[in-house]
Amino acid sequence: MNNVAIIGLQWGDEGKGKLVDVLSDKFDAVVRFQGGHNAGHTIKAQGKTYKLSLLPSGLVRNKLSVIGSGVVVDPVALFKEIEKSQDLGLEINSENLLIADNCCLILSIHRELDQLLEAQKGSKKIGTTGRGIGPAYEDRVGRRAIRICDINDDKILDHAINNLIFYHNVIRKGLGEKEITRDEIKNEILQFRDKLLNFTKPSFEIGRKLSNCNKIMFEGAQGALLDVGFGTYPFVTSSHTIDAQIGLGSCLGSHKINETLGIVKAYTTRVGSGPFPTELKNEMGELLQKVGGEIGTVTGRDRRCGWLDIALIKQSLALNSVKNIALTKLDVLDFIKEIKICTSYKINGKDYDYLPQDRSKWDDIEPQYITIKGWMEKTSDCKNYEELPENAKKYIETVEELCNVKASIVSNGAKRDQTIFRDFNG
Ligand code: IMO
Ligand code: MG
Repeated sequence: MNNVAIIGLQWGDEGKGKLVDVLSDKFDAVVRFQGGHNAGHTIKAQGKTYKLSLLPSGLVRNKLSVIGSGVVVDPVALFKEIEKSQDLGLEINSENLLIADNCCLILSIHRELDQLLEAQKGSKKIGTTGRGIGPAYEDRVGRRAIRICDINDDKILDHAINNLIFYHNVIRKGLGEKEITRDEIKNEILQFRDKLLNFTKPSFEIGRKLSNCNKIMFEGAQGALLDVGFGTYPFVTSSHTIDAQIGLGSCLGSHKINETLGIVKAYTTRVGSGPFPTELKNEMGELLQKVGGEIGTVTGRDRRCGWLDIALIKQSLALNSVKNIALTKLDVLDFIKEIKICTSYKINGKDYDYLPQDRSKWDDIEPQYITIKGWMEKTSDCKNYEELPENAKKYIETVEELCNVKASIVSNGAKRDQTIFRDFNG
């Protein structure tokens, strides 16, 4: 096996960052291929906690790290993150961090618009991270985005700025906001232009460099249920989060993925609005939130918590080429007497083994559960599968059976050595 994609199979925050860090030791390069600094990947290593949003997690192990063409780049956030990470001792330079020249920029107008549109929606808001991700992707498909390759040449840049602000000012006017001037945008870009260009390489050169690597890891952000096409639309992010996106956003073709490792948290969480059939708005939900430390890395919002939902996982499995899953945060369930797993739904008396895209059905979902007896002991010190309590193994094996996929990795804590490998030898 050579190249591996790490893809979240829920609504994000499955523990992708930890798995990338644990596994990337054996890889030559780590590539981000979608999303932006809406991601929040926490890595505990060398006695430190690294919180990465836009930077590939491979930098913690000083691996060649690529921000691929499918990523939207906020240079202000990028350089803040680089500085913070360097303060923690990470080596980051133009040799180990490469940014594709056809990435689109997130500017202050995108952040502002994201927040303005959310405020406009009131109680119907999506609950975005407010970082300008959606408006930046909109500009990309609207063919008015400023790409990094546009900022080097003043004539091209001025033209690109005019094109962009023409559109934004129409929207800003409609929202009662002050118009933005060409000089404001130009000055903003000039602040980071040279620094950003220093890390930038033509995407084809990056692709060639990656092609010479023996093993590449593709680091997904968000999760399959937040995919703009297949997720719980409109409560999704604005990029494709499934592994098919790798061929579009990593500077390489899709034939470079050899297998996908799906990351599944042992229960479910979600930040922001949208349907969540197994959500627990009770003491059990609060317990999962507290024990799991379920607070958003990016926005500091409490994550909504609920039982594991196999109907949703199966949907995500159907959309990704998953050969193995990593079941994470098993230890959070250690002291729960009875653990439920949702296997399907009843909606208006009809059985469903998937969540319908038809929103009119979302208010009447009755999750159908099976119950597994808890193990009521600490698992975070277990070093191998045999050491796990019988009921914990039963939980894992039930998930495997229901999903028809092997849980080859079990994560029982945030640290690198709290990882139980079964058959996975990536
Ligand atoms: P990682 O990589 C969890 C959610 C937001 C919101 C929706 C749209 O850490 O798993 P956006 O700002 O992307 O337009 O917001 O998507 N969201 C995430 N939720 N983990 C993430 O990333 C997320 N990135 C975006 O909360 O509901
Ligand atoms: Mg996160």
